[in-house]
Amino acid sequence: MNTIIESILNHRSIRKFKDEKLTEEQIRLIVKSALQASTSSNVMAYTIIGVKDGIIKDELYKVSGHEHVKNNAHMFVFCGDLQRINQLGNSVKNQSVQENLESTEQLIVATVDASLAAQNASIAAESMGLGICYIGSLRNDIQRVNDILQLPEYVIPLFGLVVGYPDQKPEIKPRLPLETMYHENRYKPFAEQQRFIEAYDNEMENYYENRSSNTKVDNWTEQMIRKFSKPTRMDVTPFVKSKNMNKR
Ligand SMILES: Cc1cc2nc3c(=O)[nH]c(=O)nc-3n(C[C@H](O)[C@H](O)[C@H](O)COP(=O)(O)O)c2cc1C
Repeated sequence: MNTIIESILNHRSIRKFKDEKLTEEQIRLIVKSALQASTSSNVMAYTIIGVKDGIIKDELYKVSGHEHVKNNAHMFVFCGDLQRINQLGNSVKNQSVQENLESTEQLIVATVDASLAAQNASIAAESMGLGICYIGSLRNDIQRVNDILQLPEYVIPLFGLVVGYPDQKPEIKPRLPLETMYHENRYKPFAEQQRFIEAYDNEMENYYENRSSNTKVDNWTEQMIRKFSKPTRMDVTPFVKSKNMNKR
């Protein structure tokens, strides 16, 4: 196994960091790795905002409710961004591009581009001995994050990524079996996936019971049903439309 795959397979989210900042060189290397990710038609439909200002970090912490948003070596916010293209069309080249930019397709392009960049950043950071945690809980109040970061139209905050020197070593969290997640040539009906999901539930019960902190009685199916049986962040749809994205 090569060192890149070893590092990828060693991933676990880190939520407690040592009190040590990143150097500018480290930040630049992580961002350059992010930017080198593949991007749909070279559109690069995202922007990364590095958060250094303690007051802004604190405001983002209040939205997410997670201590690691306040206490980390560096934080990035990944934004879907179609604003550059809108400006080039409308202000620079005098060519309307709005109808296209406002489609669901372009929201997917922006979200996929930002996610690929973020995962490149994560792998780069982890390869440098740093730990990472994604922060979707910024969408607990997406409008507030938008306002804190002063995002213009056609730009939406998607998620954060906190980085730092790990001050914990949680056990690696098991994933659904390959037989459930990887299908060949055709979609594998749910009935064929089910026994692997049951096996995973048993594995997760053991994992939660025996891990070194925050032990509990739980499994994946129970978690998912709890999570999906109540509406979540329903304000995201009107917010995205208010930014002139996903309108058609
Ligand atoms: C898009 C995204 C958003 C996430 N948001 C949060 C978050 O707000 N807070 C947090 O502590 N973890 C967050 N996570 C981390 C997941 O909970 C974690 O990746 C998952 O439980 C698997 O655990 P592992 O990363 O340790 O393997 C997020 C992960 C992703 C990919």
